Amino acid sequence: MQTTLMHVILTSLFFLHTCVICGSASKWLAIFNMQALGISTIKSPDNCEELPGLVNKQIQICKRNLEVMDSVSLGANLAIMECQTQFQNRRWNCSTVDGSVFGQVLDNGTREAAFVNAISAAGVAHAVTRGCSSGELEKCGCDRTVGGNSADGFVWAGCSDNVAYGVQFSQTFVDAMERKTRATLERRLMNLHNNEAGRRTIEDNMRMECKCHGVSGSCEMKTCWKSMPTFGDIGQVLKEKFDGATEVQSLKIGSRQQLVPRNADFKPHTSSDLVYLVPSPDFCEEDLKGSLGTHGRRCNKTSKAIDGCELMCCGRGFNTHIEEVIERCSCKFHWCCYVKCRNCHRTVEVHTCK
Ligand SMILES: *[C@@H]1O[C@H](CO)[C@@H](O)[C@H](O)[C@H]1NC(C)=O
Ligand SMILES: *[C@@H]1O[C@H](CO)[C@@H](O)[C@H](O)[C@H]1NC(C)=O
Ligand SMILES: *[C@@H]1O[C@H](CO)[C@@H](O)[C@H](O)[C@H]1NC(C)=O
Repeated sequence: MQTTLMHVILTSLFFLHTCVICGSASKWLAIFNMQALGISTIKSPDNCEELPGLVNKQIQICKRNLEVMDSVSLGANLAIMECQTQFQNRRWNCSTVDGSVFGQVLDNGTREAAFVNAISAAGVAHAVTRGCSSGELEKCGCDRTVGGNSADGFVWAGCSDNVAYGVQFSQTFVDAMERKTRATLERRLMNLHNNEAGRRTIEDNMRMECKCHGVSGSCEMKTCWKSMPTFGDIGQVLKEKFDGATEVQSLKIGSRQQLVPRNADFKPHTSSDLVYLVPSPDFCEEDLKGSLGTHGRRCNKTSKAIDGCELMCCGRGFNTHIEEVIERCSCKFHWCCYVKCRNCHRTVEVHTCK
């Protein structure tokens, strides 16, 4: 126990001191942990200076948009939680190391880095847009460009999500980081591309929600508004893009560097696909670069996929133990009105990697 704790502390110190070109997302994402820094909400411009990992331009944006910063923090939180949900059954499971986000795992331009960039840019856009719709933010509100009668016989009414505002804010705030790093041009292009792909995922999946009005639910009049997908849906779409991400390299085309597929036989990526520069490490063993390894991870004995013991444990084998779970069972409804259950004990086999 003590050695693990020591290790975490060492790892995070190492991280703080050597992370100069770190996956840029991993730096400002530390905002999610504002509470841990003793900042519950951004009240004064001074708070902007206390936030870790921001570049100068972001500090200026923060000072001019104090009320939006809580949404940014919320967006960073959304992004991290969704990343952990989408990756819970993979070797790299998006764990945060002692308050710092993801360690150096994102230093290199891997698929994982691509995903984190996309989901965090989307997280900020989503949370800011929500802030606009809910009336919490003074600078923005619902989308006023949506209105009037539609050709399909309904009326645009209600609060359409102002996704343009959220996306614009995310572009200014999140992308500011990329113009101020020591990373290579190639890496900056990759990050900017994936940030944009994350935001497009929201725009491409906007949906229409409607409500019927009329005598006892008849739909004599229908009002509709445009609404963002849930953040869980965005996470799922981005996870699919992660699986289908394109390996690219930068080439000078005309006077500009551009990202093109490394394998010329593959069809070119679109602006909403994820791209990466280098293959991922196997994430099998713990190292000082922030990979925690898969020793002790739970695995599925019958699955052939990445959550299966064979792949998850990197061929090292696994241990099996029996765990007792207590569940509510034989529930009976009693008149009136409560439900009474018994506690049942059930044993399950749990497999963990050697
Ligand atoms: C990044 O790639 C370099 C070169 O392949 C490698 O030496 C280094 O360990 C990698 N860093 C991380 C954090 O995986
Ligand atoms: C993620 O992996 C780490 C290290 O393998 C493990 O300690 C942690 O419990 C895992 N997190 C989840 C949510 O499974
Ligand atoms: C394990 O994997 C199998 C096959 O993919 C699946 O049917 C089963 O639900 C999984 N079990 C658990 C506990 O996730």
